[in-house]
Amino acid sequence: MIKVAIMGYGTIGSGVYEVLTGNRDKITANVGQEVQVKYILDLRDFPGSPVEDKIVHDFQVIADDPEVQIVVETMGGLNPAYPFVKTCLEVGKNVVTSNKALVAAHGTELLAIAREKQVNFQFEASVGGGIPIIRPLYECLMGEQIQEITGILNGTTNFILTKMDKEGASFDAVLKEAQELGYAERNPEADVEGYDTCRKIAILTAMATGKEVDFEDIQTEGITKITDVDFKYADKMGTSIKLFGTSRMNGDQVFAWVAPLMIGKSHPLYAVNDVFNGIMVKGNMLGTSMFYGSGAGKLPTASAVVADIIEEAKNLHHNIPLGWTSEKQVIQPMEDSSHKYFVRISGVYESQKDKLQELFGTCKVITLEGTDEFALLTEMLNEKQFRDAKAAFEAADGKVLQVIRAEA
Ligand code: HSE
Repeated sequence: MIKVAIMGYGTIGSGVYEVLTGNRDKITANVGQEVQVKYILDLRDFPGSPVEDKIVHDFQVIADDPEVQIVVETMGGLNPAYPFVKTCLEVGKNVVTSNKALVAAHGTELLAIAREKQVNFQFEASVGGGIPIIRPLYECLMGEQIQEITGILNGTTNFILTKMDKEGASFDAVLKEAQELGYAERNPEADVEGYDTCRKIAILTAMATGKEVDFEDIQTEGITKITDVDFKYADKMGTSIKLFGTSRMNGDQVFAWVAPLMIGKSHPLYAVNDVFNGIMVKGNMLGTSMFYGSGAGKLPTASAVVADIIEEAKNLHHNIPLGWTSEKQVIQPMEDSSHKYFVRISGVYESQKDKLQELFGTCKVITLEGTDEFALLTEMLNEKQFRDAKAAFEAADGKVLQVIRAEA
């Protein structure tokens, strides 16, 4: 029998217990022996619940018990998750986490300790919730040179943008609704400012390149400036707007960013709506592969955690190489990337036509009846070239109301 400890009995931690007990027979058959939860670490007691007798409040009980071979970290945040996980690995225990903040900030170090101790540090649930994406990258796609990973990696913002798109509602109104439904946190900053997506694309980029990626090197824009007027244009153009985390690799050159993107109906991720996530991976031999599913939520995320538990249960004293080393990956400046741009401008097109053509080149012009503004969709432009053109337009008293990168 393999004994497991769960640190943090919140939504995901309790989901892990539910999956382990609900699918016990299948898991036992898979591992070849039973996987049993011995301890649950939480600040709270759970009187009357089936886990009542497993609750401990002192982390040291877990760290000091040699019978516990796998520790699940579902506390979230860095403190005390980081010191607890580090200690578990140092004393030779395998660790599974769903905590993207921990993996993005300390993944390199924790993986190195796991290698040294011949145990494992696994984090399938940290990106894409229940969608298998980490294991495909280091197993199924191990023979590929990954050229691009791009995706909708945050369920909360996708829910908000989908509602804005389908119902014409404002960002503030939909955010409030998402909070009432429990899809958005009371402090929604990490989701709506793109920080959550940033950590996820940093982890995927590290998996793809095999190098350490500092998430702070990734330019990150959230969705708080997206308005219902943007969606009116999108509707007219047959497009939608979604928050993307993207990483493009060209040899040693790696670009990575998080930003809202206007996409057309032919984009493979156009139909990824509500709280769902979708990830596209492009390999040099494979071409494009798509991963779609529940990017968040109790049981989908717990299912991915349990898959890692099973993997570790079969490899208790054998480190499975994930290919993520401590060599640092340089992220190219966003200014060197190229995009199309959707640009909303105040006033009338005809009176500004010459200046706009001179600065932005050939563009598609979109008008919205009943407004005193219009929009342009540029051809592919280098980001720096675009920023310079925008600055020159504004210096000549032009008024830019909105800019969204586009693949429309
Ligand atoms: N807040 C995250 C999301 C949870 O909305 O996708 C899963 O990482």
